Amino acid sequence: MAEARVVVLISGRGSNLKALIDDSRSADAGYRVVGVVTDRNDAVGIAVAEAAGVPVTVVPRQMFPSRAAFEAVLNDAVDGFGPDWIVLAGFMRVLSPEAVHRFEMRAFNIHPSLLPKYPGLDTHARALAAGDRVHGASVHLVIPALDQGPVLAQVEIPVCEGDSAGALAERLLSREHELLCACVRLLASGRVEIQPLQLSLDATNRHGPFLLNANNQLV
Ligand code: GRF
Repeated sequence: MAEARVVVLISGRGSNLKALIDDSRSADAGYRVVGVVTDRNDAVGIAVAEAAGVPVTVVPRQMFPSRAAFEAVLNDAVDGFGPDWIVLAGFMRVLSPEAVHRFEMRAFNIHPSLLPKYPGLDTHARALAAGDRVHGASVHLVIPALDQGPVLAQVEIPVCEGDSAGALAERLLSREHELLCACVRLLASGRVEIQPLQLSLDATNRHGPFLLNANNQLV
């Protein structure tokens, strides 16, 4: 089977990107990172990609008068690499529904929480504030609702006594790298079938069908 072509979208440090590039170089990985697209010309991850000889396209948001104009160029940049899979790894923009539909069923995001807990920002601090004993990260399909697509896989880590948000984030990061690499390997293997229908009600995903109750209400 041909190696799957993977494009990674980043906005910052690029440690997940580096993990993917390194992993993809194993003979049995089944995928190759063929391009990186970023919305920030100061993203540290640009140097990560360049050092590995992976081409980078920078599409700075501030150069475009509107989100639509920005996304048109961003999406063309992604498509230009001919991806089988698109990985959002620390990409800090919310894509419009139109952009999501263009990449439908091919784009996955890594998020540092055990979704559906803590979509959005500050996930580590929120887990600590809630007194969670277990924290983790999720890889999920990208849908228009932020961080709410069906979850492909998660990794859990214990919350330790005295953990700060920073310590928790740092401890999780290496497991995130392993989770993301394992997920991309799985996707590249062709063994996962992604169902085209994802139900959501009032912007909240449902992980099963509605049920008609005795009062003929769908619950
Ligand atoms: C990771 O924690 C990822 O889960 C989140 O943003 C961070 C990106 O880190 N979405 P890096 O840029 O891959 O180092």
